[in-house]
Formats: sequence, structure tokens, C-alpha cells
Amino acid sequence: MITRIIKVDPINPEPDKLRYCAEVIRSGGLVAFPTETVYGLGACVYIEDAVKKIFTVKNRPMDNPLIVHISSMRQLDKLVKEVPDKAYRLINKAWPGPLTLIFKKSDDVPHTVTGGLETVAIRMPAHPVALNLIKLSDCPIAAPSANLAGRPSPTNPKHVIEDLSGKIEVIIDAGDTFLGVESTIINLTTNPPVLLRPGPLSVEKIRELLGEDIIIPEFARGLAEIETAMSPGTKYKHYAPRKPLVLVESSDYRDLSRLIKKVMELCHEYSKSKKKVLIIASDETKDHYHCPTVSLGSRKNLASVARNLYKTLRLFDELDYDIAIIEGFEEKGIGLAIMNRLRKASGMNIIRI
Ligand code: TXA
Ligand code: MG
Repeated sequence: MITRIIKVDPINPEPDKLRYCAEVIRSGGLVAFPTETVYGLGACVYIEDAVKKIFTVKNRPMDNPLIVHISSMRQLDKLVKEVPDKAYRLINKAWPGPLTLIFKKSDDVPHTVTGGLETVAIRMPAHPVALNLIKLSDCPIAAPSANLAGRPSPTNPKHVIEDLSGKIEVIIDAGDTFLGVESTIINLTTNPPVLLRPGPLSVEKIRELLGEDIIIPEFARGLAEIETAMSPGTKYKHYAPRKPLVLVESSDYRDLSRLIKKVMELCHEYSKSKKKVLIIASDETKDHYHCPTVSLGSRKNLASVARNLYKTLRLFDELDYDIAIIEGFEEKGIGLAIMNRLRKASGMNIIRI
């Protein structure tokens, strides 16, 4: 298949170009499109053959459910059995945006989309291209991240092209995404609500909006695997680089000297055994190392660290290094999402100091 790559303005998307993409969605094709978090691989939620193609193209297990992307509350009503009152407290303030909510599904939602579950994950994305594409398609769009299963989520069109070129009808090129990690997922069908995946909308903010506590299970911090049907996605091996990645976590990131010392020690140890080592550090620490070092950004700006995360992990996979040592970050705000992704990427190869 020849994949059309269509360049679209991220802020003022050209309607003609999006109308073409919407027509592809309506006729059962697949379109990779930007959201504010990461690129998604979309199909019309009601065309089951198209939804099935998503799983085939990504090599994704059929029981790992997809997120349904909507552009209006009218679409939400058709997809769910009920919208609990507390959902509105989040929806009113956080949609459109990087928040996915789990609801009881209506009979209209095919089980292919939900991996056989009776619940459905829904979000209204804020990216102008995503929102307009859904509107013009006149159909909610089921979409996982637009990477091959097991690879980091794509934060720019180059990543999508690497993984999916030749396999889908269209890739929209609207440059870098804005946030860099996937949406926060909250299950509202349980009492109290449960965080299934931390993301750009912080737990602190969600508690404030809800006016109640939410549960943060160990697996949402990236510290345990779960097997229950609560969040099936979490049972699958997440992105892990083909080469070893060692995460060094500190109990206190205000004093970085211990962290630097440990990373240096490890770097020397691996270098002695003739391994080519890459250090993935922060602006505050990067000049202290003698091994090749890249920075994810400043610890004072965890949003920029999140934005750089996946592209740096892809870079490590491509470059000629045998092993990477990566520094941990404070689990505050978007830091919780960063640490969840890093722990999973390290395959629990974690050193705590
Ligand atoms: O930011 C995002 O959320 C991106 C963009 C494209 O919107 N999407 C994304 O999709 O990250 P994906 O498929 O890579 O991750 C969706 C996660 C999976 O872990 C899946 O198991 C979980 O959401 N999920 C989907 N439906 C669910 C459900 N009914 N109950 C529990 N977890 C669900
Ligand atoms: Mg994904």
C-alpha cells in the first residue's frame, strides 16, 4: 500500500486536506493523526473491519482495548450507558484535553473496540487537527498510539513513518505533538475512582477537580504488573528498548550529588567491561559526566522532560550504544507519568539510592 503523507498546519488545519482524511476514515481506511499527547492511529469506531485493521497493523493483542476520540458531548451520549455526575466535574474543566475516562459502554460500541470489555475509554482531544478530523468524519475515532506494539509512542511524524509507512492509507504530518506522553486514564466506574495511567493531567489537579480522593495503584506508578481486567493494557509488556536501560532513582532530588555519583560509578563500571554507555540526564546534571550524555531537559520544567522522553528513547535504540543509564525524576505533577514510563522502559532494571 502507498501511504499518503499530508502536511497540515497544526494550529489552523486546512479544511480541504482534513476533508480528504475524513473521507478516508468514513470509507473504512486508517489515518495516523496528531493529538496533543502523541500521534494516534485512527479508524471510525463503528466500522469493525477498519478497527480490526488497527490491531493487525500495530501487531496489537485483540484484547487490549482502544481509546475512542470524540469531538462533541452528543457523541459521548451515544457511546456510553450513563455519565456519572462526578464525570462532569472532570469533563467540564479538562475536555478537550489529555484526559481519558472509562465508562460503561452502550450497545453501539463494538466489542472489537473494547477488547471484549463492557467498558469503553473515551477522550476529547484538544489538538486542532484531531478535533477537526473527528468533526469532519462525523464519527468518533477509535485510536491507539500510532506505533508498532512494543515501540515508544510517536511524538512526531517521522516516528509514525518509521513504524507505519506502507501499512495505512494516510499519515498526517503536523509536526511535534505538544505534550509528549499519553493521556491520563481514570476509571470512574469504581468507587473511589482509580488512576489507570498517569499522564499530563496531574493527580493533584484531578483530586482538586473531583473534590475527592482517587486511588493510585502500584501499577499506575509503573511498579507492578496487573492481571485483572481493570486495565488490560497494563498487562502487556510496554515499550522497552532492545538494549538494556538502567534507571537510577533517588529518594530526594533536591540534592543531586548522590545521584550524579551513582550514575558516574555505573558508567565507569560498564565502560570497564568495554560497553558503550549513554547517559540520559537532565540540564542540572549533564555537565558532570565523562561518558556521552544527552539531556531530557530541566528538572524545573518536567513538561519539557515529558516532551523529550520518547524521542530520546527512540534515539537510544538507533544509536550505537550498548547500554543507557537514565536518571529518575521527582514523582510530582507530570513527573508521575514520566516515572511510570521510565520504570516500564527499564524493564524494572532500577537502582534506588
Ligand atoms: O494520549 C493518548 O491516550 C493516546 C492518544 C492517541 O489519544 N492514545 C493512547 O492509546 O495512548 P493506547 O492504545 O496506546 O493506550 C490506551 C490504554 C491502553 O493501556 C488500554 O488498555 C487502556 O487505555 N484502555 C482502553 N480501554 C480501556 C478500558 N475499557 N478499561 C481499561 N483500560 C482501557
Ligand atoms: Mg500505546
